[in-house]
Amino acid sequence: MPPPRPAAVFLDPHFTVGEVDPLLFGSFVEHLGRCVYTGLFEPDHPTADAAGLRTDVLALVRELGVTMVRYPGGNFVSAYRWEDGVGPADLRPRRLDPAWRTIETNRFGLGEFTAFTRSAGLEPMMAVNLGTRGPAEAADLLEYCNHPSGTTLSDLRGAHGAPEPYGIRLWCLGNELDGPWQVGHKTADEYGRLAAETARLMRMIDPSVRLVACGSSGSGMPTFGDWESTVLAHAYDQVDYISLHAYYDPEAGDPASYLASASDMERFITDVIALCDAARARHRSAKRLSLSFDEWNIWYMSRQRPGQGEWPRAPRLLEDVYTVTDAVVFGTLLITLLRHADRVTAACLAQLVNVIAPIMTEPAGPAWRQTIFHPFAQAARYGRGQVLRLHVASPTYETPKFGDVPLLHATAVHGEDGMLTVFAVNRDPAAALPLTVHLGGFTPAGPATHSVLADDDPSAANTMTEPERVTPRESAAPAVDGGRLTVTLPPLSWNVIRLPLATDR
Ligand code: AHR
Repeated sequence: MPPPRPAAVFLDPHFTVGEVDPLLFGSFVEHLGRCVYTGLFEPDHPTADAAGLRTDVLALVRELGVTMVRYPGGNFVSAYRWEDGVGPADLRPRRLDPAWRTIETNRFGLGEFTAFTRSAGLEPMMAVNLGTRGPAEAADLLEYCNHPSGTTLSDLRGAHGAPEPYGIRLWCLGNELDGPWQVGHKTADEYGRLAAETARLMRMIDPSVRLVACGSSGSGMPTFGDWESTVLAHAYDQVDYISLHAYYDPEAGDPASYLASASDMERFITDVIALCDAARARHRSAKRLSLSFDEWNIWYMSRQRPGQGEWPRAPRLLEDVYTVTDAVVFGTLLITLLRHADRVTAACLAQLVNVIAPIMTEPAGPAWRQTIFHPFAQAARYGRGQVLRLHVASPTYETPKFGDVPLLHATAVHGEDGMLTVFAVNRDPAAALPLTVHLGGFTPAGPATHSVLADDDPSAANTMTEPERVTPRESAAPAVDGGRLTVTLPPLSWNVIRLPLATDR
């Protein structure tokens, strides 16, 4: 047996990428399947509060460390009438939701969503419908939400029990309008004009809003690149962010390339930065656009069956069960987002509950954490501060899709709390990876810790009957000596290594 090939990372306190924006740890709640109904919201559940929210789920949302939540879609928003979801619940209309072929009762709407964000301490990110609707309806929604009082719409909010404005700062100008599946699908020119005009009107009503233009719904879209350039030709001056969406399907290709999914995410981010900066040059603008990676996750999309003829209410849709392997790949995606913290300043794990989600629930039953819950919770907790610009030296492996890919995927954050945190994935399914962290000018001030998520069975998952099957475990403390920390990363593992630092550097 050949000796394991080592990897190394080199740090320097002066070499930083940028400060992590807390909005990087956002998530997404769509009216889709059981994300809302029997997920977040189940008035008859034994743990439900007065607003009908499941407090067992609220506790897990807090533990997950989510900071922001996008709502109400997704594909759903492109045919949604926000007015259907406000006012007395028993007077709200039942509608067909063409995006997911379900019946929407509108029992949950804007007021309930706001009750949720307030209970969980989350910043809302609201999407407006630019599929079947336009600037007027977006402006009405903004006035209803954010105007203090004295107009029909703001007073209507007061009459609906919310005299204080909701003060929603983040707004998405539609959803995935480049996608032929989207209700109201548009060309880049059509969407770019519409986004610019909607943005202009929204800013007239509330100049404090932060606006997200739709970028491509995936790096593989045939219009990718042209879409961003055209949309930004129309809307660069009016928006603050451009969106990116990416889902990685464990069963869509070969296993080696799946483990290297972050290579696609990395390339997608750097390409979108290039497109934004080219638009900036053309506009001779001082502004630099941010990236809002407002849908990302693992999704067993090839298992999805198209909707049948019936129109069910809150059916079980997209309820993927995540394995250890998925959690490790998910960890590489988190690391990639952190590595671009200077430009990716908002991101949403899609979605939050039941639908391709870190949290699962059973109607009238328990709630539990999927495997992917754990890397997210650790990154949201410890990934706060300055991301360091690392030099990574790693053995590689060959993949059909991405060529040679490093076995080690890592980033490091110098926390405001004086801690150094290294997030590291060993992609090798068979062998452990010895890692040396060269601490540069950092001075250790105590022993290091090492948390590992790995399993002898890479297909292990958490279920209702075995909810704690996969959790991170504390491993032996890494050795710290002579400016170096040494640690062994088990095969196919997500690792969080933490070291207290002296402040006298
Ligand atoms: O998150 C599930 C769906 O994926 C969203 O509704 C849509 O925006 C994307 O295609």
